[in-house]
Amino acid sequence: PQRKSERIPPEARAEIDRWIAKYPPEQKRSAVMAALRIVQDANGGWLTTELMDAVADYLDMPPIAVYEVATFYSMYELEPVGRHKLCVCTNISCMLRGSDEIVARLKERLGIGLGETTPDGRITLKEVECLGACAAAPVMQVGRRYEEHLTPEKVDRILDELE
Ligand code: FES
Repeated sequence: PQRKSERIPPEARAEIDRWIAKYPPEQKRSAVMAALRIVQDANGGWLTTELMDAVADYLDMPPIAVYEVATFYSMYELEPVGRHKLCVCTNISCMLRGSDEIVARLKERLGIGLGETTPDGRITLKEVECLGACAAAPVMQVGRRYEEHLTPEKVDRILDELE
């Protein structure tokens, strides 16, 4: 029978191998966060149970340990997401600098709430914990990029530029 880890596409496996190589062999599970990110990217931005099982198999970990990582960190998605993922921070520094107004503009422009995806599958809006960029509050992450010192007008520009 096919090993579960064979569900991971070969290019993704090669990339995971580069992460595994950074750790001593007995610590290959240290690559779990990178492996989940790589597999998620290769699967259109979200993780299925089958893919998490495949990562567990590949890193010789119990599946439950992989699920725990995937559910703990907000960067992993366990349901399909839109082509663009907007993660808006609402923690204290961002809140004090107007994240409420930013969230309100995003909801109004997109016609969806936090944790939702536009019906055309284009954009997912998420609320996240501190992104570690408090000095530039309010902040949101757009794909891999950080958008800082947000204002409602800046939100409009960012949305207008997304395909
Ligand atoms: Fe928003 Fe830290 S509180 S980036």
